[in-house]
Amino acid sequence: MTTPSAKKKIALIAGDGIGKDVTREVRQLLEVYRKDAGLPIELWDLNLGADRYLSAGLTMPDDVLSQIRKSCAAVFLGALGDPRVPGHEHARDILFGLRVGLDLYANIRPVRALDDRLVPLKSKRAEQVDFVVFRENTEGAYANIGGQLRRGTPDEIAINEDINTRKGVERIIVAAFEYARNNRRARVHMADKSNAMRHAHELWLRVFREVRGRYPDIESDHMYVDALCLRLVQAPEEFQVIVTNNLFGDIVTDLAAGLQGGLGMAPSANVHAADPAAVAMFEPVHGSAPALAGKDVANPFAAFLTVGMMLAYLGWAAEERRIESAVAQAIAERQCTPDVGGSLGTKAVAARLREQIQRSLEGSPVAPA
Ligand code: NAD
Ligand code: IPM
Ligand code: MN
Repeated sequence: MTTPSAKKKIALIAGDGIGKDVTREVRQLLEVYRKDAGLPIELWDLNLGADRYLSAGLTMPDDVLSQIRKSCAAVFLGALGDPRVPGHEHARDILFGLRVGLDLYANIRPVRALDDRLVPLKSKRAEQVDFVVFRENTEGAYANIGGQLRRGTPDEIAINEDINTRKGVERIIVAAFEYARNNRRARVHMADKSNAMRHAHELWLRVFREVRGRYPDIESDHMYVDALCLRLVQAPEEFQVIVTNNLFGDIVTDLAAGLQGGLGMAPSANVHAADPAAVAMFEPVHGSAPALAGKDVANPFAAFLTVGMMLAYLGWAAEERRIESAVAQAIAERQCTPDVGGSLGTKAVAARLREQIQRSLEGSPVAPA
């Protein structure tokens, strides 16, 4: 048997567009943790994205996935998507290659507004926006089962099936209830469209009713996803944990990001929730925002908050709060990018935040994992 390395290896995939801008800053933040705080982590830069695809034809080589499985504790991914690849084939291969290939069935997207100023609803305060979305991450409409027939003709047919397995539905609903129980969240909402999608989403409703019986300590409600969107805007304070399918989770979390200051403030984790030691992937919710790429304007905070989630997952739980507090302070002092009301560039904002974290680490070092 080989002795596992004591160091936790983190693969960094910068990807495309502003993914590169924010991952550069993330790398330096992780270096602060490695060098100054002595965290036993090792960084591995993985060159995957549109550049590699366009120059070498490679999207997600098989050996990369097996190497990640064998040697990594976590993956950080910036963003994928490049106008030079209009079919998005590299983005799908890499993103879904990791999510599905590592069976990261829970896409956990916390939605917390860190300042009243970031909440666009005129009568709501920051503490009224504090919930977590559990998005199913391996099946549903993303299962890539379907096809096109008579393409380009007036009789064209285009199909993407909505694949919902009993196991897949149950495990994400269980993950949401477990999270609620372990994090003292009183209520779980499950959102589907079972009034229209009679077969696939009736399964969600049935499994939800069954699973909630196992969690009598947690309140639970079913909502149709359209009504959920309405209520998220009218009364976000009613929500604590939301569980939904892959496609609805994607849409709902962009809407939710709007409640917390935009995509520049929204972090996420992709985990195999049943095994807390499994390799997991961490990515900001935002995409590659091509129009902002390379201009030093992208907000790095979503990526930094994502690093907080990653360090917590790796065993340094208090670091999530440390990073979040530093971000909240920067927002309060308007030391931030224009999307959240500041006038600084990506590099300046990130450097300032790293210095603040460095100072905080001198006063209270990282608790051992
Ligand atoms: P996007 O998230 O890139 O941008 C949406 C809007 O939010 C834009 O106005 C953008 O300027 C703004 N925005 C996003 N992140 C920001 C940040 N950090 N700071 C400031 N403003 C920010 O979504 P899109 O425009 O629909 O997609 C662009 C590309 O990204 C597409 O190719 C899409 O497929 C891809 N995408 C990738 C991921 C991912 O890799 N996880 C996620 C979403 C979209
Ligand atoms: C996200 C993105 C992706 C998704 C795209 C790029 C395929 O929007 O991570 O939210 O839909 O999952
Ligand atoms: Mn999305």
